[in-house]
Amino acid sequence: MDQNALKRRAAEAALAFVEENSILGVGTGSTVNCFIDLIGERRFPLKAAVSSSKATEARLRAIGVEVLDLNDAGPIPLYVDGADETDAKRHLIKGGGAALTREKIVAQAAAKFVCIVDQSKLVPQLGKFPLPVEVIPMARSLVAREIVKLGGDPVYREGVVTDNGNVILDVWHLDIVNPAALEQTLNNIPGVVCNGLFALRPADVVLIARPEQIEQI
Ligand code: 5RP
Repeated sequence: MDQNALKRRAAEAALAFVEENSILGVGTGSTVNCFIDLIGERRFPLKAAVSSSKATEARLRAIGVEVLDLNDAGPIPLYVDGADETDAKRHLIKGGGAALTREKIVAQAAAKFVCIVDQSKLVPQLGKFPLPVEVIPMARSLVAREIVKLGGDPVYREGVVTDNGNVILDVWHLDIVNPAALEQTLNNIPGVVCNGLFALRPADVVLIARPEQIEQI
């Protein structure tokens, strides 16, 4: 079973968590795209959705789902999103698709966060995948220098501007023994908008697609 088939399998498992005619928070990425496609194919009835990116918003509208501004949606019962890495405690690295800030906002607004991944994303310790950090453009060099002091190797993601008009530093070689502490430390650097660690608000459920089965953490 190839990685795309596993992504679709994870997406299918997440559908079981969605209540009909509810407002659904929807993440960003290729795994979530499988999930949106399934909603469309099965004509799953939703009241509306709140999106974590312009790309997801366009995809939702293309299958006829109304997309609300988070300010108009009120509390969201469920958020479904992918991840670049997860550990066994449901701490995540996200932001490979540069949507981390809006993803973190919608995750925080949701009562339940279901994360969908294929088996390649489960790691013993976060950090092999470079940690995305969204930065206000004028602070790029300052933030990079501060990150070097923390032991990371920041690389500017050339040519990428986030939906919020900011830039991304991908940080290699961090030793992430305490994800929540590092998440907070990075947030405290002036110019950092958000970082891709999801530990202070981890996923509530991670669905890991394997060829034999879906594993639930
Ligand atoms: C986007 C994300 C995605 O959830 C993450 O990059 C995983 O993407 P994919 O499902 O394509 O592997 O955080 O910012």
